[in-house]
Amino acid sequence: MSPADQYPRPKGGHDLILNAIGMSMVFGGLVALNGVNLSIERDSVTALIGPNGSGKTTFFNCVTGIYKPTRGDVILYPAANLPSISLKGLPADVITQRGLARTFQNIRLFNNLTVLENVLIGRHCRMEAGLWGALTRNKKTRAEEAAGIEYSFDLLVTYGLDAMANELAKNLPYGDQRRLEIVRALATEPKVLLLDEPAAGLNISETAALRDLITHIREREKVSILLIEHDMSLVMNVSKKIYVFDYGRLIAEGPPEEIQRDPKVIKAYLGED
Ligand SMILES: Nc1ncnc2c1ncn2[C@@H]1O[C@H](COP(=O)(O)OP(=O)(O)OP(=O)(O)O)[C@@H](O)[C@H]1O
Ligand SMILES: [Mg+2]
Repeated sequence: MSPADQYPRPKGGHDLILNAIGMSMVFGGLVALNGVNLSIERDSVTALIGPNGSGKTTFFNCVTGIYKPTRGDVILYPAANLPSISLKGLPADVITQRGLARTFQNIRLFNNLTVLENVLIGRHCRMEAGLWGALTRNKKTRAEEAAGIEYSFDLLVTYGLDAMANELAKNLPYGDQRRLEIVRALATEPKVLLLDEPAAGLNISETAALRDLITHIREREKVSILLIEHDMSLVMNVSKKIYVFDYGRLIAEGPPEEIQRDPKVIKAYLGED
């Protein structure tokens, strides 16, 4: 435990980057999340699976500050030598600054902005001037803006979207729109990247490219990934550990080979019959 560590690091030798404890979310009479514990190991891909409506997206929304969970806490361990912090109650933009970035189940791009502008919007959270300060356009702001453009363009080069930098986002093929959303999230320089069904709507070759992209991000950017996905072949391929939700509860956790043959998981997917 580092001197300023307010939240003890979990035992067991796992180097965690994020630990969500006892997360619950109630909508009216519906318990969408029910006391879920989920941790993410540093520099790994962790998957979150479960039938439709089992609470996966709700979990993302609670962790990233879009929803205020009814109960629970999320502890971030930014690095081994940095003190842990609680993300509880922080607004979504502050949570992004602390190092969590996400994509959405239904793509949320600024359709009428260019590819580069979409990435720049992600980048703004790392700029001192901020979106509105940029309006003053003094020398320092202009220099920062130029650096932001360079950073964003470099990301487009790395992820093969530079040729489309000046295209409107809405004109990109669907697979590239999904990729752009991930690149925009990367522009925030996240420590943890949460992907909500990134393979939804992709064809076989686009899904294969996504698998390579996820592996690349983990290895090159040193980003820990939490992946919600229904494509089981993708999940089993890239994940070190899998969590399974059913009706808002955590029903199983473990490595892919265990999860695949867990009777509770099979039953959750196939139903009672
Ligand atoms: N804002 C909300 N208000 C009311 N109910 C909600 C809200 N958001 C989610 N729910 C409900 O919470 C439950 C969990 O939904 P959630 O979207 O988290 O499921 P999911 O596991 O992501 O499903 P899918 O695989 O279909 O995306 C569902 O019953 C859903 O209708
Ligand atoms: Mg969902």
